[in-house]
Amino acid sequence: MSPAGAIAVSRRVSLLQPTAVNSILKEVRELQAQGRDIASLMRGEPDFRTPGHIVEAAQRALAAGRTGYPDNRGEPALRRAVAEKLERENGLRFDPEFEILITTGATFGIYAALAALIDGGGEVLLPDPIYDAYQSPIRLAGGRVRPVRARLEGGRFRIPREALEEAWTPAAKLLLLNTPWNPVGTVLGDTELREIGEFVLAKNLLLISDEIYEAITYDGARHLSPAALSPELRARCVVLNSFSKTYAMTGWRAGYCAAPREIIAAMYLVLQQSSRGPATFVQDAAAAALGGPQDCVAAMRREYAGRRAQVLDALGGLRGVRPIAPEGGFFAMADVRGLGRSSDAVRRALLLDHGVVVVHGSAYGAGGEGTLRISFASGGETLARGLEHLRAGLAEL
Ligand SMILES: Cc1ncc(COP(=O)(O)O)c(C=O)c1O
Repeated sequence: MSPAGAIAVSRRVSLLQPTAVNSILKEVRELQAQGRDIASLMRGEPDFRTPGHIVEAAQRALAAGRTGYPDNRGEPALRRAVAEKLERENGLRFDPEFEILITTGATFGIYAALAALIDGGGEVLLPDPIYDAYQSPIRLAGGRVRPVRARLEGGRFRIPREALEEAWTPAAKLLLLNTPWNPVGTVLGDTELREIGEFVLAKNLLLISDEIYEAITYDGARHLSPAALSPELRARCVVLNSFSKTYAMTGWRAGYCAAPREIIAAMYLVLQQSSRGPATFVQDAAAAALGGPQDCVAAMRREYAGRRAQVLDALGGLRGVRPIAPEGGFFAMADVRGLGRSSDAVRRALLLDHGVVVVHGSAYGAGGEGTLRISFASGGETLARGLEHLRAGLAEL
């Protein structure tokens, strides 16, 4: 047997990085092993249980023997439910036969879209800061990341046209957007999306739109899919979504994509050679989620709105700290540039000296430096205790 360490993993894999949350979790576990009690405001996992009618649909499907291989494109009833949802809620028409693919969470949709669309050296314009698990699949697909530096203006992160122009090179193949946008909480509005859309068309790019937080918006902000802006954009767009956040179904691993037929055909090939889709009974439950009552989604949105107010309240009136009110999603950012330390140094001090864990903004790209991401995916005692430690820690720093 060769000694440990002598195994050379592929060069491709050496380009991958653990997610920020996983790296920080390692630090947290070490502290917990020493007996430290750590309050977490870090994870992007809703603390709600999956609504009962969805669980029951899965139980019925299991009892009915729905345990064989699924249709690899996605079970026809689920694809139809997705097409109906997209038309009803997003004003988008997609053919369930050829233009929709059911995936193992949005994570697989991201992977399959990039694998299907990027060639070696192809560049992906990626807003900075953004969800940190886009970079690795871009690299795995052979692509290169071109950060599009977002600007924090008037208490809100946005994507200026100049930043898109600056990031662009002739090797740029696509732009990846996330709206509502993790971690910064911006919900891109009609005018902003139209401006970005014009750029996409002018540069002949493709657009991947990750819309996983669409159901969670505040203060009248409304999610808009860029694919709904014009037929030209729809023709160049891959819409990604998932059941994870909207229906508190993170562990079910179910998501979906909608895109023009040629793109879905290519993604389908990737899927056939890898995941082959979520379990059949999970797909039945997902169809029940889309086709069933939506008051559970509204109830979760109301609860998140209350938690958001609690976070903004806890961050108010602290010297050197400015809360950034999210328009969507379940993360709030705090602008901590006034504390005069790097965001990672602030995060570490909060963890080591005050027993609370958040994510430093620079984990999401250089554009996130000077900020912290505070999650309110969990509420109740976890949130209350976390905010108490956070406020005390920030006040001391
Ligand atoms: C922006 C974004 N996209 C995708 C995902 C992954 O979603 P899924 O659970 O559907 O794979 C997450 C999870 O945190 C996310 O924040």
